Amino acid sequence: MMQHAAITGWGMAVPERVLTNADLERMVDTSDEWILSRTGIRERRVVGPRDTTTSLSVAAARQALETAGLTADDLDLIVVATCTPDQFLVSEACLVQGELGGNAAAFDLGAACAGFVYALSTATQFIRSGVYQRVLVIGADTLTRFVDYSDRSTCILFGDGAGAVILEASDEPRGMLSTVLGADGAGYKHLYIPGWGAFVPESAGIFPEYRPYLQMNGREVFRFAVTAMGDAAVESVSKAGLEFDDIDMLIPHQANLRIIDAAARRLNLPMEKVWVNLDRYGNTSAASIPIALVEAQLAGKLSEGANIVFVAFGGGLAWAASVVRWGVAGVSRLARKTDDTRVVAAAAAS
Ligand code: ACO
Repeated sequence: MMQHAAITGWGMAVPERVLTNADLERMVDTSDEWILSRTGIRERRVVGPRDTTTSLSVAAARQALETAGLTADDLDLIVVATCTPDQFLVSEACLVQGELGGNAAAFDLGAACAGFVYALSTATQFIRSGVYQRVLVIGADTLTRFVDYSDRSTCILFGDGAGAVILEASDEPRGMLSTVLGADGAGYKHLYIPGWGAFVPESAGIFPEYRPYLQMNGREVFRFAVTAMGDAAVESVSKAGLEFDDIDMLIPHQANLRIIDAAARRLNLPMEKVWVNLDRYGNTSAASIPIALVEAQLAGKLSEGANIVFVAFGGGLAWAASVVRWGVAGVSRLARKTDDTRVVAAAAAS
């Protein structure tokens, strides 16, 4: 029987430190009014000295394991979507696994802000093919470490955080029903961090204070995002064999409210069916969709069988969209090492 990959656990973590638009007014030539009207962002969470991509990922992952009723020993695979791993050798996924315990396979995946949907697609293939039963997928980034806080065109946008989900094999159509992935590498210079990697530009010299900063052509990224998000979202719905009316919730990458509005219009969805939290977190890159997912779930917006559209764009330039069916139907309790009363209750009700 065809295995599906249901989302059975979820968790999120953001740093405590809040950076408001008023704080930014004191740092660069900007205003709360400009930021709010152009982006929709009011404040964002930024890492303090002790926060890392790993610490946020582990906190989100522990919650996800707890909601799924699993332990790290139950996991077959950990995939971390990030463009800001704490180090390149080893992978972020191994750092996370080291903290959580267990011996799951572990690797990172890079697709910037589209990374979580790319990672969810990858993890889903492992379950669909029968190779694995339980996978932890994390989207985590600490991009503010690479933001130049004297550059008003970028420093207003970003925040830090992590979100995590557990995927488990299910006999029912749950989890990803469709996937649309794409990239346009020719446009990479519209959004990148030069010198963050094995290749260091000569201009950096040998100066130890050299620090790469995120560079962005906002107008180009904006134009790309409006088209890519809309097209990918529409395609994901038709690939799932659904109509726009069948969509219960849109959970988009949280970069700019105007871009989100445009995507919602393409799907003919009222804003009540769109989860927006960028006013509180800004753009948390790969973490934005799983954080929004957790919030939507905790707010009681997602019921068993709900059809959700995830859609994201980001550096690469890359884009990704997927229709995900919410719920734990068809997940076998017997397949687990640990008991989960939620799954038992769902099975009893069906
Ligand atoms: N405060 C005040 N004025 C500003 C600010 C600021 N923070 N930033 C720029 N401006 C000025 C500009 O200098 C410009 O002035 P000028 O006309 O005198 O030259 C004016 O505002 C308009 O600038 P634009 O860049 O045209 O402003 P726009 O309406 O496009 O908004 C923004 C800029 C918010 C960056 C928008 O282009 C955007 O959101 N782009 C997408 C960016 C994005 O989402 N990036 C993340 C991708 S995800 C990932 O992979 C990490």
